[in-house]
Amino acid sequence: MSDLSLAQLLDGQPVRLEKGGRAICVTRVGSEVFAIDDTCSHSDASLSEGDVSGTKIECWLHGAEFDLRTGEALTLPAVTSLKTYSVSVADDAVTVEI
Ligand code: FES
Repeated sequence: MSDLSLAQLLDGQPVRLEKGGRAICVTRVGSEVFAIDDTCSHSDASLSEGDVSGTKIECWLHGAEFDLRTGEALTLPAVTSLKTYSVSVADDAVTVEI
């Protein structure tokens, strides 16, 4: 069973997904869908409420940026990368592998 439908994911507008006891930030960028941990590695903020630009997401709380493709922390104050998850898209069905 899928986690989300592709139609639910608007380009550059992240969605918070709870799965397997984890909170995951799922973001569509063009034809690709990326999934990273939803909780910022700097403090307790939900990244799915942040701003996406290209393949970067900016935490709304203190402005750290992360690479949606790799989870890498790109700017301070975050220094720790986030876990990424594989995403499969089949027709309209989006599934995050945890
Ligand atoms: S909580 Fe995200 S940058 Fe501070």
